Amino acid sequence: MKELKVQPIKDGTVIDHITPGNALKVVKILGITEKQPDSIISIAMNVVGKRGKKDIVKIENRELDPKEVDKIALIAPNATINIIRNYEVAEKHRVSVPDEVVGIVKCPNPNCISNTREPIETKFIVKSRNPLKIKCYYCEREVEDISSQIM
Ligand code: CTP
Repeated sequence: MKELKVQPIKDGTVIDHITPGNALKVVKILGITEKQPDSIISIAMNVVGKRGKKDIVKIENRELDPKEVDKIALIAPNATINIIRNYEVAEKHRVSVPDEVVGIVKCPNPNCISNTREPIETKFIVKSRNPLKIKCYYCEREVEDISSQIM
């Protein structure tokens, strides 16, 4: 029997089925290393699971709010959020793309008002989910490569 290389955790959150290669982006988006610099985080990349290659991020002793994690849907649409309590999977959620993407993607248009000195948070309207298409609320520019524009 093949076993994954990362140990089970006692309590915390496991973000599973991340699109291969995107684990580090997931950690960055969540801002955990800045907000909770003492967090115990394990990252596995390109491990082979039942349904092929995937990345996994495990955060110990912290239950991420599934809403907080919705941002992850932008770069890992198939990710699952598993809340672990006393070694058991207590909750399992699929990520979902919010209707508006606020403050996490930078507009690719250098002349957009959200890229000038104005203190304006970026905002995108979701035009389609599969494939994911988002359009700037301010200048209407569509983002071609979303993952490269994540702040
Ligand atoms: N996990 C963990 N620590 C635990 C329990 C589970 O790190 N104490 C991890 C597992 O390694 C897996 C994820 O949490 O990556 C989800 O666990 P589980 O639902 O048991 O696995 P699967 O049935 O394979 O999940 P899915 O059906 O979502 O693929």
